[in-house]
Amino acid sequence: MATTHAGALLLFPLVCLLVRGGAGVSTGTPDGAERWGYAKVRPKTNIFWWYYRSPQRASSVDKTWPTILWLQGGPGGSGVGRGNFQEIGPLDVNLKPRKYTWLHKADLIFVDSPVGVGYSYSEDPAALVTTDLQATEDIVQLLRALTRKIRTLRRSPLFLVGESYGGKHAAMVGTAIARAIHARTINLTLGGVVLGDSWISPTDFAVSIQIDSCFYYMHVSVIVAVTCTHVCTYCCLQLSYATLLYYVSRLNDNAVDDTNKMALLLKEQMQAGKFATARQTFTDLLDLIDSKSDSVAIDNFLLDTGMDPVLAADLGLSSLRSTHIMPVCSQASGSDPNTIEGIMNGVIKKKLKIIPEDLIWQQASLDVYEALVNDFMKPAINEVDELLSYGVNVTVYNGQLDVICSTVGAEGWVRRLKWDGLRNFLSLPRQTLTYCDSVIHCSKGIKAFFRSYRSLQFYWILEAGHMVPIDQPYGAFRMIASITQYQPPGI
Ligand SMILES: *[C@@H]1O[C@H](CO)[C@@H](O)[C@H](O)[C@H]1NC(C)=O
Ligand SMILES: *[C@@H]1O[C@H](CO)[C@@H](O)[C@H](O)[C@H]1NC(C)=O
Repeated sequence: MATTHAGALLLFPLVCLLVRGGAGVSTGTPDGAERWGYAKVRPKTNIFWWYYRSPQRASSVDKTWPTILWLQGGPGGSGVGRGNFQEIGPLDVNLKPRKYTWLHKADLIFVDSPVGVGYSYSEDPAALVTTDLQATEDIVQLLRALTRKIRTLRRSPLFLVGESYGGKHAAMVGTAIARAIHARTINLTLGGVVLGDSWISPTDFAVSIQIDSCFYYMHVSVIVAVTCTHVCTYCCLQLSYATLLYYVSRLNDNAVDDTNKMALLLKEQMQAGKFATARQTFTDLLDLIDSKSDSVAIDNFLLDTGMDPVLAADLGLSSLRSTHIMPVCSQASGSDPNTIEGIMNGVIKKKLKIIPEDLIWQQASLDVYEALVNDFMKPAINEVDELLSYGVNVTVYNGQLDVICSTVGAEGWVRRLKWDGLRNFLSLPRQTLTYCDSVIHCSKGIKAFFRSYRSLQFYWILEAGHMVPIDQPYGAFRMIASITQYQPPGI
């Protein structure tokens, strides 16, 4: 009898493990303020997530406190490491409290996505995602698992915030969640989608929408038989990387033609649907710009490559140039405790306890980036349109000094939305934003411009590059308060 009982007792936890096997392991701090774990979103696919409950979380039952899911760029950048410790999380890389952490305004979830990034790992190289759609489905599966683990998540308005390539995934996850909510296959409340310097339309950033009007000019000006490149030289150069950099004195004046020719080649490859070839041309284009600009930092045209340690080590679309990608990855085993690699492979890994011993955290995964070669150059404008058609709040914010996902490029894809509110949106004046950090400290100049119509909002953030929360922590903080808590955007 005794043996049978013991057997039954042993069996019970075993059954639990089997049932929970699909959900993966998770743990957290004793007070529940932080939780983290692995979600097995597909066989052999372990996605790492880290949840922080806001100390400011309103206790009253009917007030719905928001949650932010942060999606890092790349594809291949670690949100759990970089977004968390370098941009918006409660602690910085020195493990000191961050004054303007977004945790004051929302619960935060960081995720290392797609699988293979940061602490996430697959037991089979074939499990790496090769399409944005697969990356999106993995995140939706993760969210399904989290609604079962974190009960407050079901009613908490969820804001998907993506930076750079993460914005493309935010838009795609947003549409997937909106459909799943409608089909009642997920227990979530979608608060909005926020696109920070996001890679929504490669053509609008790299080639310029003006090329389209160039073809238009060609058709109307039949008298002048000129090649498109020539027409472009005179009437439609405004928006490519080359002209943006030329206008701010950062590109050699006699390099503009060559650079724009490469951009046109890129455009042709995109139109022919040769997306992998187009990505190679895109890399070549960045290399050409690098050499003709004496290495401008493509996430901030006021800087040179390597000037800002955070930016220099960034793969999130800034160091994709073939020559820059390898140093990023080979630094990974750096042991200095006060670097992001140092803490993620040292004190943080130790705290979390569940990270496999032999896993080395890297800022960026080249394998993940390469696996998405066929989708990298594909746009996500239709997804943004779909969100707007459902009435989901969409916020676009862009740093003034960004090159790779420039503000003019972002305005370009916004202008091509099919959304019925677009015309009214574009006709509105912009609001100027200044901030008071406290009663005694108010900003002297304008810090941002803002426009809002129905469910679309656009922030032009001044004196910021590709990663707005790093360059304008207070402005970014005020913006996220406005988006998630409906607080006034300016003073
Ligand atoms: C949503 O929550 C309800 C109530 O807890 C539950 O019955 C239902 O199965 C859940 N749906 C999903 C898709 O998880
Ligand atoms: C969108 O944001 C506005 C505030 O800007 C808010 O009043 C509204 O409820 C939000 N809509 C949705 C569907 O969340």
